[in-house]
Amino acid sequence: MTVQIIKGHIVDAPAFGKLAITENGFLILENGRIEGVFAELPETYRNAPVTDYADKLILPSFADLHMHAPQYAMLGTGMDLPLLDWLNTYTFKTEAAFKDTAYAREVYRALAKEMIDNGTTRVCAFSSLHRESTMILMEEFEKAGMTGYVGKVNMDRNSGDVLTETTEESMRETTAWLDEASDQFEHIKPVLTPRFTPTCSNELMAFLGKLAEERNLPVQSHLSENTSEIAWVRELHPDCAQYWESYKKYGLFNERTVMAHCVHSDERERTAMRENGVWVAHCPDSNINLVSGVAPVRKMVNEGVRVTLGSDIAGGALLAMPQVVTSAIRASKMKRIQTDWTDDFLTVAEAFYLGTTAGAKFFGTNGGFAKGDTLHAIVVDDSAFPTSAQKLSVTERFERAIYLMTKRDIAAVYSDGRKVK
Ligand code: GUN
Ligand code: FE
Repeated sequence: MTVQIIKGHIVDAPAFGKLAITENGFLILENGRIEGVFAELPETYRNAPVTDYADKLILPSFADLHMHAPQYAMLGTGMDLPLLDWLNTYTFKTEAAFKDTAYAREVYRALAKEMIDNGTTRVCAFSSLHRESTMILMEEFEKAGMTGYVGKVNMDRNSGDVLTETTEESMRETTAWLDEASDQFEHIKPVLTPRFTPTCSNELMAFLGKLAEERNLPVQSHLSENTSEIAWVRELHPDCAQYWESYKKYGLFNERTVMAHCVHSDERERTAMRENGVWVAHCPDSNINLVSGVAPVRKMVNEGVRVTLGSDIAGGALLAMPQVVTSAIRASKMKRIQTDWTDDFLTVAEAFYLGTTAGAKFFGTNGGFAKGDTLHAIVVDDSAFPTSAQKLSVTERFERAIYLMTKRDIAAVYSDGRKVK
């Protein structure tokens, strides 16, 4: 048996709003799996080697449950239009360039490194509709040390000429991609990805729903992000009272589904998400940038909907998940103001849980530093932050780190038990 011991100030997020802090603690791994967090080194491990991070903070790493990998190429640009115009003006053009596999390689390699450097080790990502470039994204994620899911996008209508596929092509390419990708990588697996209802014909949606069931695959898409989008879905599916039903009727709305945004989900739609076990990827920075609205994140959590966080680059301009966590806090505070102080806001500990443990659970683990899981962690060196006159507690240092940390302050990253930074 191999034993690994990591020492430092350990801050775990075992449950919503809960922090488990062990100062100068020992995180013990046996054969790569977490045995536990201990305040004193147990006698049995006395002779095992210790990686001592001294005064640094050891936290669970981040999970980005919604992002568009090709849109990394347009990060920080084209931020002046609402969703549907934004897609037609900038986004589809950006993604069309990923027909070029050499270009895809270059962008995806840089993206994967940037995510690891910023402490994201789990991801649920959209690629573009291109099969070959999707394989390249999976490969670059795998090589960089990421874990999670990548999806070849399906879109056979309403996306203009630059970026579209026929229904037949979409089905054929998806099957070929699944055959190739399913067992190709140890840590990166496929997820079915109907872009959103407006860009997928009924025939394609039915095909994907069948595929999800036959091959037991997860699904990711978008839901109720923008009011014009919702009105459009109502025209496309007059038989559906609400947007979510356009997924549900094709078997694309269940406990293995991540729906991004849900900004305008009312009580009926939120109930449907809870009852179907659907996961929400709340993307606060994107929702503000594309003037989509402010999602009722606190309501969803209180009602028992499974909420996680996503960067949604490049609708979101922040790839670094600590900044998405603080964006979620700000958005929840805006919601509190909008609801006349009725909805509560998210505390740092609550938002941190959504960006780490909550997302990890989508991948079938317990998340945080739960016994039996492999290690997904970051080591934060907060020595470059402004010096406080008072000695800060570890809790205060944790909160400051969430607001201030950049990749320069992340000294080490562990993903699935391996040190990847
Ligand atoms: N809805 C459909 N496609 C997209 C996309 O690329 N980004 C966002 N934010 N919403 C979408
Ligand atoms: Fe998105």
